[in-house]
Amino acid sequence: MVKAIILAAGKGTRMKSELPKVLHTIFDKPLLGYVLDSVKNSNLVDYAFVIVGHKSELVKEYVEKNYSAAKTVLQEPQLGTGHAVSMAKKDLENYDGEVIILCGDTPLIKSETIKSLIEFHKNNNSDITVMSAIFENPTNYGRIIRNKDNSLEAIIEEKDACIEQKQIKEINAGIYCLNWAKVKRAFSELKNNNAQGEYYLTDIIKWGKENALNVNAYTLNDNNEIFGINSRKHLAEATKILHDEIIAKHLDNGVTIVSPETTFISPETEIGRDTIIYPNCYINGRNKIGSNCKIGPFAHIRGDVELDEYVKIGNFVELKKAKVKSHTNICHLSYVGDSEVGENVNIGAGTITANYNPLTKIKSKTIIEDNVKIGSNSVLVAPVRIKEGANVGAVGVITKDVEPWSLAVTRSPLKVLEGWVKKQLKHD
Ligand code: UD1
Ligand code: CA
Repeated sequence: MVKAIILAAGKGTRMKSELPKVLHTIFDKPLLGYVLDSVKNSNLVDYAFVIVGHKSELVKEYVEKNYSAAKTVLQEPQLGTGHAVSMAKKDLENYDGEVIILCGDTPLIKSETIKSLIEFHKNNNSDITVMSAIFENPTNYGRIIRNKDNSLEAIIEEKDACIEQKQIKEINAGIYCLNWAKVKRAFSELKNNNAQGEYYLTDIIKWGKENALNVNAYTLNDNNEIFGINSRKHLAEATKILHDEIIAKHLDNGVTIVSPETTFISPETEIGRDTIIYPNCYINGRNKIGSNCKIGPFAHIRGDVELDEYVKIGNFVELKKAKVKSHTNICHLSYVGDSEVGENVNIGAGTITANYNPLTKIKSKTIIEDNVKIGSNSVLVAPVRIKEGANVGAVGVITKDVEPWSLAVTRSPLKVLEGWVKKQLKHD
């Protein structure tokens, strides 16, 4: 299995943020999480080293909490991308397989592309493979310098390039696959005699040629995959690219999305056929929405939500950690969280599952069994179970379990004072 090194020590000054750049999010998932997930989902990599520097504790905490097959390695001070890779040398001392190198701020890289890079590297018996791309406007990227026979010669950074070199449109995507046993020595031999006074990872191309290694470039098809985030504007652009891809995928799969521009669906949401998503929905986190559902307009699904088929989630309904069985309606102005809802249930307008006790900070579960009807404006105070077929009268405040097929009513009886209004008017 291949190992990965992910470079994430840079400051990200242009984000103008207290937060390290790689912890900025798209659909609430940090940029670094996208890269780690793509690496993991390639199924060819079994461990990742994340090189951290600026605010390293925060990145370390995130990696440790979410990824068992990854750890952070501190780079202090940050002397360049080549220096960053050398930080992982100690951990990889006795390793002699392949290493891939990626950047933590290019979240759109796909697992299939990582897989193709590794396969290309192996099929070509390559020692060093760099991913390249063709850019109409290559400004700021390192340029790929080729010999007359098309073989690789070097990578020249923008700041070190002459006018002719700046015309080159083939750029360094910043992703590499290395034969570690043969290339690791390079990281003690790189020099920093360049415009930025840094140890450039890119210099391994020239080093590889000088040491008679097999050096190749793998050219990327979809330039969006290496879209790098340096500013909030880039973050918004990357979100848009991902958003458009996600919408297209669901449309292709047979989901109707009435208004793609106003519908946000996280990458980890599955949606079944013939489901209709009405405008202005925000669907975040990991969810499974079945077929023939109707969602929205203006629904907010916050993650860990599973809907079976023929479920209706209407306007201003918020769902979080909820499983809802088929043919159930939650149509208006409700909050359902930490809940299990059976089939053929009707949840009236304005119903709330009160799942959180702010004094104890404990969250509890609400269980609503099959065929239950909840009257409008009810509050189900968790932990609570509304058993099969039970009804809750409107404005019910339900603090204990309701037995099957019974009616729970908590409101005071209706009083009508006849002629009361007219009497008031006479007094005036
Ligand atoms: C780098 C490449 C360039 C390529 C571009 C693609 C080098 C010298 N240049 O340039 O050829 O076209 O990426 O995006 O590699 N980092 C560290 N430690 C450091 C310095 C950087 O971890 O000491 C990390 C950064 O956090 C970032 C990544 O390495 O994630 C790339 O560094 P950056 O300074 O952005 O390099 P570029 O100038 O973009
Ligand atoms: Ca960069």
